Amino acid sequence: MRLILSCSGALALTLLLPSTLALKTGDWKTCSQSGFCRRGRALSARAQAASSWTSPYSVDERSIELASDQAGLTAAVTSSLYPAIKFGLEVRVHEDGVVRVRMDEVDGLRKRYDEAASWALIAEPKISKDIQWTVGKKDVRAVYGPKKDIEVVVSFAPLRVVMLRGGKEQVVLNGQGLLHMEHFRTKHEASPAEEGDEAQTVVQVNPAAYFEGETEDAFWDESFGSWTDSKPKGPESLSVDITFPNHGHAYGIPQHATSLDLPTTTGDSPFFSDPYRLYNADVFEYLASSSMSLYGSIPLMHAHSADSTVAVFNAVGSETWIDLSHPTAKSTQTHWISESGILDIFILPGPTPDAIFAQYARLTGTPALPAHWSLGHHQCRWNYVSSDDVRTVQKRFDEDDIPVDVFWLDIEYADEHKYFMWDEKTFPDPIEMTNDVEALGRKMVVIVDPHLKRADNYPVYKSASELGVLVKPKSGEGEYEGWCWTGSSSWIDFFNPASWQWWINKFSTKAIAGEWTWTQSTDSIYIWNDMNEPSVFNGPEITMPKDNVHHGGWEHRDLHNINGMLLPNITAQGLVARSEIPKRPFVLTRSFYAGSQRFGAMWTGDNLGTWEHMAVGAPMVLANGIAGMSFAGSDVGGFFGNPERDMLVRWYQIGAFQPFFRAHAHIDTKRREPYLLEEPYKSIVRDILRLRYAMLPIWYTAFREASVTGIPVLRPHYVVFPRDEAGFSIDDQWFIGGSGLLVKPVTTKDATEASIYLAEDQVYYDYFTHHAHRGAAAGKHVTVSAQLHEIPLLVRGGSIVSTRERHRRSSTLMKHDPFTLRVALSKKSEARGELYLDDGETFAYQTGQIVWREFVAEQPKNTKGLRISSRDLAHAKPGEAVDGVALTSVSPSNPFAKSIESVRVEKIVVLGVSSKPKSVKTEGGAELQFTYTAGVPASGNKEGTASVLVIKDPGVAISKDWAIVLTA
Ligand code: NOJ
Repeated sequence: MRLILSCSGALALTLLLPSTLALKTGDWKTCSQSGFCRRGRALSARAQAASSWTSPYSVDERSIELASDQAGLTAAVTSSLYPAIKFGLEVRVHEDGVVRVRMDEVDGLRKRYDEAASWALIAEPKISKDIQWTVGKKDVRAVYGPKKDIEVVVSFAPLRVVMLRGGKEQVVLNGQGLLHMEHFRTKHEASPAEEGDEAQTVVQVNPAAYFEGETEDAFWDESFGSWTDSKPKGPESLSVDITFPNHGHAYGIPQHATSLDLPTTTGDSPFFSDPYRLYNADVFEYLASSSMSLYGSIPLMHAHSADSTVAVFNAVGSETWIDLSHPTAKSTQTHWISESGILDIFILPGPTPDAIFAQYARLTGTPALPAHWSLGHHQCRWNYVSSDDVRTVQKRFDEDDIPVDVFWLDIEYADEHKYFMWDEKTFPDPIEMTNDVEALGRKMVVIVDPHLKRADNYPVYKSASELGVLVKPKSGEGEYEGWCWTGSSSWIDFFNPASWQWWINKFSTKAIAGEWTWTQSTDSIYIWNDMNEPSVFNGPEITMPKDNVHHGGWEHRDLHNINGMLLPNITAQGLVARSEIPKRPFVLTRSFYAGSQRFGAMWTGDNLGTWEHMAVGAPMVLANGIAGMSFAGSDVGGFFGNPERDMLVRWYQIGAFQPFFRAHAHIDTKRREPYLLEEPYKSIVRDILRLRYAMLPIWYTAFREASVTGIPVLRPHYVVFPRDEAGFSIDDQWFIGGSGLLVKPVTTKDATEASIYLAEDQVYYDYFTHHAHRGAAAGKHVTVSAQLHEIPLLVRGGSIVSTRERHRRSSTLMKHDPFTLRVALSKKSEARGELYLDDGETFAYQTGQIVWREFVAEQPKNTKGLRISSRDLAHAKPGEAVDGVALTSVSPSNPFAKSIESVRVEKIVVLGVSSKPKSVKTEGGAELQFTYTAGVPASGNKEGTASVLVIKDPGVAISKDWAIVLTA
């Protein structure tokens, strides 16, 4: 098992507001309203204005100690501003070349929060044994890597950490001299001139002012609106600049509503005037283009050029702002300003996007392999109001033959919003209701939020209170009380280990002596964790006061961005623990942090039913994916508003090509389930859903790959073609895993065609019409038809994709359905593809109960024919996932494989065979029936139509070795 421990809140308030769609930006801080961000930006402004600027931080070279195994070094660091304050630096190189740089204050007045990495990382990284440091007069350096072309250099004065490859600077820390760790101080601390004299309290001329500013700006408390943050620890922010001198594009740091290639934020940036903010927040009706915070934060940034990709992961849990600029078209400068915590930065050397994914996955884990059903279509709404409502909705889907796998219940199922407690008037029979849904192989997902109603008749709150696992107010005593859906509420403090088993037990469907458990549920009910930023309706910026106190005495400010990941973590464990034969959990979370990919899916929160929001959902999902959160999607239809029918159709089209595919709507919206649509819209949506279901094998195979390699399920252009500059800013088309499917969903009204960018000299076939588009080595745009019922979807020449094309009402009913293989020949008449299958539900795949096939099409030597074959990969590729988890070699008895032994390939479609074959036979000699429609091959700049060869019922099984030969 690979689970490891390590709201729209504003809605309640805004339900009262007019329904105009306007963001109340004033509810969230801008940088200039946040003391430490203001200080950080002012520092950068002073540096830029100065004629010369040198960082005051330096390494005391006499203090350098190399670890006995040479893998790392430690050194003392001082700042000329405050010579008496001590800092400790540690630099370590991991086995895979990642460099970790840590700096903390030593023997300070207090301790800085240093636990962010322990929540994000799956394990203590393995340290390289292959490092030789050389200590020189000005620096200490090490050369390493398989080609010995990576170098890490720690310069002494000023302190600078640089990673180079092939002699070229890739990542530079403190190159701009903006490193500043505000040390802990007492309120009226002496200026450096008088340090050592404890009695001295009069602040005189401050030599640190050139660096820190003249005034103590918001050092000791800070107000925003009617809230005051008491800041009992005073200033402790951390500023660091990170430069990528040879990389002109930056991606990542989700979640923001913006393009994938991050726009600049500094100077006279035409895009954003504020830095990107990472501060998990329940932002009501967020803007479709903004650097403002949203619900989750992953401080991982990729920097990319045609030469290489590098990345930094900044393991910080406090509020963080990131300025970004491109001093030249080929370089990127960033400035990270965090409110508290130690400096703990991982430099990922790449040099390719795939290498970065592996390096990041080794740190924070790969996405969990989801249950197969969870890749189906989810139907949600706030709210299905009764168990009979759920039954009726299910019936209507079935009457119209519209596939769906999951029905969701939002907060109104719960009596007074006391999660787990069914409202007995409306949901008198939750188990029977779930069983009715289960009868067709479907599941239910029910919401459980982290705020607990402070009510004596609520056993979950009562027991949490008795156990003492609720977040405390700033006094450190008692229970913090705030306002959420439940009215007066308290929040579970999942940083307290005492909460873990207690919460896991809540999901037990059986009684546990002395504890309240959810006996009114079944193990077909899965969980939605919402409002976990946390959303607090009457709190500052709709969240928890920063001076609230968590387990260990840490302030909420120290760990705010991590907080949201713990609820889905422990919830997922509860779902696994409740079944005798453990099943894969499904937990959807709104808030997340680095490493959340191990626990389940996320969605992009409360989007608006506008074309802009539909469009920006795509780069948001892509950005989450490259930061680990592959299992991501946006509310189909838009959460707020009533989409026009054409918008709804387009929204289903884009949703069907995102990993997490859920329709959802606000309580004030009209019902918009697809069966309510009139023709032709209803049929169009039904076809989209059927297409999603046909492609489930493709999605599942992509998820399996992501769960082993960390490479995202949705792959943007720079990931697939890292050297093709023209594609670096493309974020409205993407590939599905390694399948070769390239989609460009339409996100504008009244479109009739779409332009797709092809990055290579290869043929791409229209999935539906078999039109053959010919790309070009220099990159080329091709136009495809995109009427309302059409999805621009191409198959890259060289791919073999597996689908299941029988129409079913849910994915579970497809378990024994036959497969269709689509062989899309490359211009060299070759193709390959993979298919991964397992029971889709349990952890039996971890004991090797899998079917993993490779399909290859190639020209047999010296012939013009074609051989299409299937071979086993499960035996061929045992080993390890990138995150170190052993992949058990295939189970000798493999009951799963046996269970699908009779599943056939019912059709093979070959695109691009140059002439009608004389015969098509299995390698065993059996003659096969086929049809052949000649095409007009695409050549040069000319487009064409693919020839289509269809072999019906080739008589081969999906899980067996076979070969079929086409004789020319
Ligand atoms: C906020 C969530 O973002 C939304 O999806 C949900 O419907 C409401 N909370 C009510 O639970």
